[in-house]
Amino acid sequence: MSDLNGRVIVLGVSGGIAAYKSVELLRALQKKGADVFVVMTENALKFVGELTFQAISKHSVYTDVMKEDTPDKIRHIDLAEKADGVVIAPATANIIGKIANGIADDALSTMIMAVKAPVMICPAMNSWMYESRAVQRNLDTLSEDGFHIIDPDEGYLACNVTGPGRLPEPYYIADRVEAMLVRKDFKEKKVLVTAGPTVEPIDPVRFISNHSSGKMGYKIAEAFEKRGAKVTLVSGPVAIDPPYNTEVVNIKTADEMLLKCQERMENIDIIVKVAAVADYKIKNRAEHKIKKSEGGLDLVLEENPDIIKTLGKLKKPGQIFVGFAAETRDLEQNALKKLESKNLDMIVANEISGKNSAFGAEENKVTIFTKNMAPKILDMMDKKVLADLILDSILEIENDR
Ligand code: C5P
Repeated sequence: MSDLNGRVIVLGVSGGIAAYKSVELLRALQKKGADVFVVMTENALKFVGELTFQAISKHSVYTDVMKEDTPDKIRHIDLAEKADGVVIAPATANIIGKIANGIADDALSTMIMAVKAPVMICPAMNSWMYESRAVQRNLDTLSEDGFHIIDPDEGYLACNVTGPGRLPEPYYIADRVEAMLVRKDFKEKKVLVTAGPTVEPIDPVRFISNHSSGKMGYKIAEAFEKRGAKVTLVSGPVAIDPPYNTEVVNIKTADEMLLKCQERMENIDIIVKVAAVADYKIKNRAEHKIKKSEGGLDLVLEENPDIIKTLGKLKKPGQIFVGFAAETRDLEQNALKKLESKNLDMIVANEISGKNSAFGAEENKVTIFTKNMAPKILDMMDKKVLADLILDSILEIENDR
């Protein structure tokens, strides 16, 4: 479930070669549940047909400010009014210049003039045009006026030049449109999230680890980022793309995770430790690959540092520490014990045995325990939705102080 679900997004397309990617962006926004209306400039129509956008959006495309075929509505005002958000992709030097300077002479620029909702501008053009003083000045003006600007990617452009100017990938833009509309209730907060398993080597080719996929931790990091926090994600090896706009620190062992967390601990407001840290590591780790021999092999394990407990001892007033507890039995009893012994403010506990196991799954069922509030027993739900509820509970703790 996305924050764009049920929202109205107006997609503005201006006349650049990247206009073909706007069709994919329309689909990406729809996949997030948005109802998308398309507005095109005259030049955009020369790159991609109006019918393509109409067939996919299921709405007529707005292209001509002088063509009003619904007498009860003035279309540019109607679209501006119903938009929860607007994204212009690609935004040419021309449309950027018009909006920055208050010119409203076509369907898109006229509609933009009336919009009250947040607007995202995705410049895409030749690198030299993009770097020109006029375009940069206009982008600065738009930024000061509260428009959200997405930097273009660098790469090989249609004009045979390599440099900044490519329209970023549609799924990235759709994600940023979603982030634009999310409430920023963690603005300026510095957050450290750990995720995934740790991997403890036996020899150069073998290791012990666990089934953690990292999904829950990544969803939490993404939710914080969208809600305005500055996020550092210390992650064990996982098969998930790094979240946008997040510092990702990749580690393998629990010792490395502890070190990276300690280095960053000083200025952090909130720590959420979702990682499934291996409790033990190999004591006699072999320098070379262990050869097969008769009579089996004894591995000696020694305890890993308890990261959150170690950090908990250094906890400063105002910092919020959240832990996770994966239990196969006595959920409440074990969770409450950990809340106390690890000096946590909140613990998110889930049963990992049986059919409800959260490992690798898209859904999770948890109970949230805090020091002062009654436990929250939540239903089985999508990890993204759950991530937002966990963040809501963290806000409650903060407001309770
Ligand atoms: O493994 P356990 O159930 O004790 O984990 C509870 C919490 O403690 C989790 O948030 C986990 O990330 C954290 N933990 C840790 N260092 C360990 C073991 C667990 O920070 N060595």
